[in-house]
Amino acid sequence: MTSESTPGRRPRVLVLFGGRSSEHSVSCVTAAGVLNAIDRSKYDVVPVGIAKNGQWALVSEDPSQWSLSSGTLPEVTASSESVAISSAAFPGAARGQELMVTAPDSMPRSLGGVDVVLPLLHGPFGEDGTIQGMLEMADIRYVGAGVLASAVGMDKHYMKVVFASAGLNVGPYAVFTNRQWEKDSEECLRRAADLDFPVFVKPARAGSSMGISRVDTPAGLRQAIEAARVFDPKVIVEAGIDGREIEVAVLQGRGTQEPRTSLPGEIAVQPGGRDWYDFEAKYVDGNAAQLSCPADLPPHVTDSVRDLAAQAFDAVGAEGLSRVDFFYTLAGELIINEINTMPGFTPISMYPQMWAKSGLTYTDLIDELIELALERRTGLR
Ligand SMILES: Nc1ncnc2c1ncn2[C@@H]1O[C@H](COP(=O)(O)OP(=O)(O)O)[C@@H](O)[C@H]1O
Ligand SMILES: [Mg+2]
Repeated sequence: MTSESTPGRRPRVLVLFGGRSSEHSVSCVTAAGVLNAIDRSKYDVVPVGIAKNGQWALVSEDPSQWSLSSGTLPEVTASSESVAISSAAFPGAARGQELMVTAPDSMPRSLGGVDVVLPLLHGPFGEDGTIQGMLEMADIRYVGAGVLASAVGMDKHYMKVVFASAGLNVGPYAVFTNRQWEKDSEECLRRAADLDFPVFVKPARAGSSMGISRVDTPAGLRQAIEAARVFDPKVIVEAGIDGREIEVAVLQGRGTQEPRTSLPGEIAVQPGGRDWYDFEAKYVDGNAAQLSCPADLPPHVTDSVRDLAAQAFDAVGAEGLSRVDFFYTLAGELIINEINTMPGFTPISMYPQMWAKSGLTYTDLIDELIELALERRTGLR
């Protein structure tokens, strides 16, 4: 049973945000942008928030409730009623999977069907294939990458394995699993110290620069690894790459068409104080980093980086959208840093900005992503 939409009826879109990861509030701010911009003449919108404890709840449709303007970080709070998607559509149902509301000691009630889910979730339990797997089980369409691509794109270790095997240029790195670290941390430290310093120590599966530190000498490694382990028991240490940070927005092609790529953008962190794109520079200090698009690059580099971004998208088997981030070194090399299958998606984030500069507005981008999701089949693709 699939959730074909009935002709003449607006598709019902479940906008899903918040979530269990440390990027909960970032996701809420994204939802504010999307709830503001989504074309309501085309889509019925149902906002559903995931509280930090994992509970799904019906939440306010008012974008201002989720924006940063209130001065405090927005957050979805748990409620006495839970929302869930039924695991299978009723035989012969005209609409898609039912959205159910349950509360202790009362009968579940239906909020009607949902045609497509727009997951605006970042980080573990949102961008890593777990929600995607849940939606696959329910046979419901959703925007963005599937289970495998999401999981690979979340894991800075496995994404490098996949990129390298697809012939993309990745920088030197070392990985420690929880078992390796607990068994012999000295040996892990020796492996990390073999890399050229400075190094970047990162939780393998986090985002928004959380838990990441730049370490200039081997003496700082242990503390940085412990800080990364607060977010993830698996840690990756990467040799620092001296280069400009260049990003490309990728959008799945329609039907059998190739992935579409935006003009490349550049993130320039202001010299002095911070010298890399940390959490503060991303979200707190508005002057710390300058985002520009199109990046000032020789035309052949623009062409190469767009081509490599499309290759990276295909290498992990991404769908819908991804932002692919590179370092462009003085020697003229393009080294891939990462793919983000659910990149920052507020109206002022790089991904929508790069599309805006490439001729696709935020509202049209949301529309295109939903259309792509409605067009694709459920199950194995
Ligand atoms: N190997 C590296 N060399 C130089 N800078 C790096 C390296 N890795 C990360 N950085 C800096 O740290 C930032 C965040 O790292 P990134 O791997 O992109 O994590 P996140 O997934 O949290 O965005 C990058 O945008 C860049 O400024
Ligand atoms: Mg990044």
